[in-house]
Amino acid sequence: MTSVEFRLNGAQVAFDVAGRETLLETLRDTAGTTSVRYCCGIGVCGTCTVLLDALPVSSCLLLTVMVDGRDVVTAEGADVRHSPVTRRVRDAFVDAQAYQCSYCIPAIALTVRGLLQQDPEMDADELKTALGGNLCRCGSYPQVLDAVRRLVGTSGRRGGEQDG
Ligand code: FES
Ligand code: FES
Repeated sequence: MTSVEFRLNGAQVAFDVAGRETLLETLRDTAGTTSVRYCCGIGVCGTCTVLLDALPVSSCLLLTVMVDGRDVVTAEGADVRHSPVTRRVRDAFVDAQAYQCSYCIPAIALTVRGLLQQDPEMDADELKTALGGNLCRCGSYPQVLDAVRRLVGTSGRRGGEQDG
């Protein structure tokens, strides 16, 4: 076992993990952050997405020992009360009814939030391309893209221009 310390949703955490344990396993089975979801296990579906040092990554492809000393955020750590970006993402997804079973939605919303925090001026096409790694078995893509357009249409540079 190896001792690993990292920041999870703003709190310092430490776990003893096997060298082959994935971040997805640690987050779900030990840390209890079950918004991080298992599906393909091979980096295809995106349901296991977390923000690692603010960028979206597939936690099924990372060994937990690789995140020692780093910053990990899951949907549980999305600070709706204090983060304007998180609030805007939440409201857009609710307004667009961008969910059915919602198995995929925490990862999709977290991805959008992370990308907009990195670049608040991303437009709808850029976000659509960036979401290409997030699959939805329910086929909620039109509603998700509607939510994205609501987001960048109200405050994104190019989306705002398109909306006049
Ligand atoms: S479970 Fe990680 S990408 Fe599908
Ligand atoms: S809403 Fe069901 S998998 Fe996406």
